[in-house]
Amino acid sequence: MTEKNKVKPFLRWAGGKRWLTKNIKEYLPKEFNNYHEPFLGGASIFIYLKSNNLINGKSYLSDFNNELINAYKQIQSNPKIIINELEKLKNTKEDYYKIRSSNPKTATLKAVRFIYLNKTSFNGIYRVNLKGKYNVPYGYKKTKNLFEFENIMKISTLLKDDVEFHSKDFYSIIDNIKTNDLVFLDPPYTVAHENNGFVKYNQKIFLWEDQKRLANFLQEINNKKAYYILTNAAHESVDELFSNLGKKYKVQRSSSVGGKGASRKKVNEFIFTNIQL
Ligand SMILES: C[S@@+](CC[C@H](N)C(=O)[O-])C[C@H]1O[C@@H](n2cnc3c(N)ncnc32)[C@H](O)[C@@H]1O
Repeated sequence: MTEKNKVKPFLRWAGGKRWLTKNIKEYLPKEFNNYHEPFLGGASIFIYLKSNNLINGKSYLSDFNNELINAYKQIQSNPKIIINELEKLKNTKEDYYKIRSSNPKTATLKAVRFIYLNKTSFNGIYRVNLKGKYNVPYGYKKTKNLFEFENIMKISTLLKDDVEFHSKDFYSIIDNIKTNDLVFLDPPYTVAHENNGFVKYNQKIFLWEDQKRLANFLQEINNKKAYYILTNAAHESVDELFSNLGKKYKVQRSSSVGGKGASRKKVNEFIFTNIQL
């Protein structure tokens, strides 16, 4: 695929896995049927695989965050309306707070608000208060091609071909996973005994209890003779919980730390998989 035709995630998303797209191919099974991604977020891995024709079966994409899933569904079916509406909005502090406090009634306008806030808020963080209201401040970042409409159209085309979306907890997809399917899992990272490891993506935090549910979920995938690839924090407690279920690899990514004069730091992450390479 040429640089010009490249499709990329259209959202900014915490914990995004774009850095992994350059070596995800090394971890894939030779062949698989359907593809499942139950912690979808910015969908970097799905977009990479689908746009490089590496998924032949159906794709089942899901996330707990229903605003996020609604945005994908709307891009899938109504991209032109979304683009038309986004074109009307300005990237100013005043407009930002007006739109943040608005409460659109239709699914399409809800998606427009969601995408606008994702692009113009501080770091594109998704955070809501106890009443479920988005409460991230304005980002002040000016970008010429803020919404990258061409990319949105390309994503919409990708999503038209055998792709289904659901908003639900990861465990509830289990019955739909069949022999030889591939499940890619990128949960929020939490490690045992370390409260500051909790990352707040949503009203509901991903707890260590959820990591344990995830370990059971992988066991069920193993029993079904389906494939999984799991990314997680490189931490002893994570190692203990998952490494008896499959193979473990350590991967390194760069992470920027600090504000002004930020330096690039190397961070390790684990990949667990039951695929024989
Ligand atoms: C690390 S992000 C995924 C990032 C994604 N791989 C990317 O490249 O952008 C984790 C996602 O898990 C979702 N999530 C959190 N708890 C969940 C749960 N119990 N079930 C399903 N999704 C959940 C969050 O909404 C978030 O989008």
